[in-house]
Amino acid sequence: MNTLNNFSPNKIAIIADQNVLQLFPYYLDKLYADIPKFVLPVLPGEQNKNIDEVVYLWQNLQELHIDKKSLIINFGGGMVMDLGGFVASTYQRGIPFINIPTTLLSMIDAAIGGKNGINLNNVKNAVGTINLPQEVIINPQFLMTLPHQQLLNGFGEMLKYALIGNKTLWDELKALKSIHYQNIKKEWVNSCMEFKEKTVQKDLYDTGLRHILNFGHTIGHGIETWTLNKYGDARPCISAEKIPHGYAVALGMVAESYLSYCHGLLSQSAYEEIRTVILQNYNKILTPLSDDDISEIVKLCLFDKKNIDGRINITMLETIGKASPNHWVSKEECEEAIRNLIVEA
Ligand SMILES: NC(=O)c1ccc[n+]([C@@H]2O[C@H](COP(=O)([O-])OP(=O)(O)OC[C@H]3O[C@@H](n4cnc5c(N)ncnc54)[C@H](O)[C@@H]3O)[C@@H](O)[C@H]2O)c1
Repeated sequence: MNTLNNFSPNKIAIIADQNVLQLFPYYLDKLYADIPKFVLPVLPGEQNKNIDEVVYLWQNLQELHIDKKSLIINFGGGMVMDLGGFVASTYQRGIPFINIPTTLLSMIDAAIGGKNGINLNNVKNAVGTINLPQEVIINPQFLMTLPHQQLLNGFGEMLKYALIGNKTLWDELKALKSIHYQNIKKEWVNSCMEFKEKTVQKDLYDTGLRHILNFGHTIGHGIETWTLNKYGDARPCISAEKIPHGYAVALGMVAESYLSYCHGLLSQSAYEEIRTVILQNYNKILTPLSDDDISEIVKLCLFDKKNIDGRINITMLETIGKASPNHWVSKEECEEAIRNLIVEA
């Protein structure tokens, strides 16, 4: 299997998630069989998406004499896409890279769209670049080994695409009896990828329209960062459950749908349908938060890069399948939306 028809690299550096390497040790042998390849394993986990890891990878690339005629392959989930994309975009001011995503979330989201980056002081993606991969290779076989929680994580993003742009997809997803890799249709993955690619083509540098892809993320990132700060990378959440990105976004989508309803955009019935469908699948992490916790989460929402002058920017829904970017909400409204997430036991 060869990719990049017009480009024949002199060497290949593979930045790879260590778990994925163990699960699929021979997968990359088929790629560019005649070209020297060097594997740079990366320890999994969000805590490793940091500047120390970047320096370690830059140094290895230098020692291997990787240059502008070389290729970097990022092989793993979204963590490796973000980290490897950042390394490839900055080493020698940028060398070509391709992404081979191995989680559902990275197939439909992190591997495409060109956003690369690392965390700084526990603020997610605080430093990064916008630089597109030369190619993204999708292979659904990777989903077979994905832990259920990771599948749910990506499924949250799939629900997001349905809500912001594809009512038919929403109807199909909400009818799913169980979330299992065999139930995830390749056409759904393709449709999410295409939606993201089209949106990114219209607004690569994220000046307006691309904000619709952030639906659920303003409050979702606040929740995710809060749990990261409070519990470290184990991130046992609010109820001692782990809360990865897709879970946080799922909760963020319910909260931001509530804001859409309060602002008179979304009907009450649509809001209630969204809340019911999402909380059916992402209900384990909802236990009471104190007022102080809620206020901390909203403070973290203020770090969102869409915000200006301390005002909170939210993507809202007009209806299921149609998003409306760039609405401003107050801190108090966000607090109310988070409080509204809590389900009494
Ligand atoms: N750049 C973007 O546009 C963008 C978009 C969304 C998310 N992200 C980022 O993506 C990251 C999350 O990515 P993720 O959800 O893919 O998680 P991840 O990359 O952290 O991987 C999660 C776990 O799954 C394991 N794993 C990966 N593939 C596997 C497979 N096929 N089988 C078994 N285990 C496998 C990994 O080793 C890891 O333990 C976050 O850092 C987030 O900020 C970036």
